[in-house]
Amino acid sequence: MNITGKLIHISPSSAAFSDILKMDLVLFPRPWSRADWLEIDWDHHKLMAWMLNDRVLAFALWGRVPLDETAHLLKICVETGVRGSGVSHDFWQNSVDWLKLQGVKSLYLEVESHNLRAINFYQKCGLKTLRVIKSYYSDGADAQTMQMTV
Ligand SMILES: CC(C)(COP(=O)(O)OP(=O)(O)OC[C@H]1O[C@@H](n2cnc3c(N)ncnc32)[C@H](O)[C@@H]1OP(=O)(O)O)[C@@H](O)C(=O)NCCC(=O)NCCS
Repeated sequence: MNITGKLIHISPSSAAFSDILKMDLVLFPRPWSRADWLEIDWDHHKLMAWMLNDRVLAFALWGRVPLDETAHLLKICVETGVRGSGVSHDFWQNSVDWLKLQGVKSLYLEVESHNLRAINFYQKCGLKTLRVIKSYYSDGADAQTMQMTV
């Protein structure tokens, strides 16, 4: 499968914003409520999508403090039908290139320890596990923190 997407910055007023909230609810392991999304401080977060015309193939939410050289990945989600197709990797690579242009030099994230698909994906992208945080999530699940320099 060869799908060419385009990296787009999404604001809460963008048409794709509600599609992303729906995708989060249905496809993300720990989705946020609409109220959670509406509380985001957009001066410190960037929502990026990988779009094929008007269709959201993937999205990622990054925590970004202006002038800080580290970006925090809060969410990444790829449409079920295009997982394993290379779309996630293209999205990742374009996102990292974009972050580098903003002055970002390192990335980190937390991922649930039994989300092996995501962990494998992050390892393929060059992230390394820093440590395991016991009972990180409210239901007691452990998380791995992963990081990389870019
Ligand atoms: C995480 C995500 C973005 C990765 O994108 P993807 O297209 O699925 O990733 P890829 O298929 O390129 O890579 C995943 C790797 O894990 C492997 N894998 C698939 N299912 C697996 C499983 N159950 N256990 C372990 N490995 C698995 C794949 O084979 C692949 O490795 P390979 O390329 O060596 O074959 C995507 O799966 C997703 O949106 N998941 C739901 C949301 C999510 O969990 N986000 C991360 C939260 S921190």
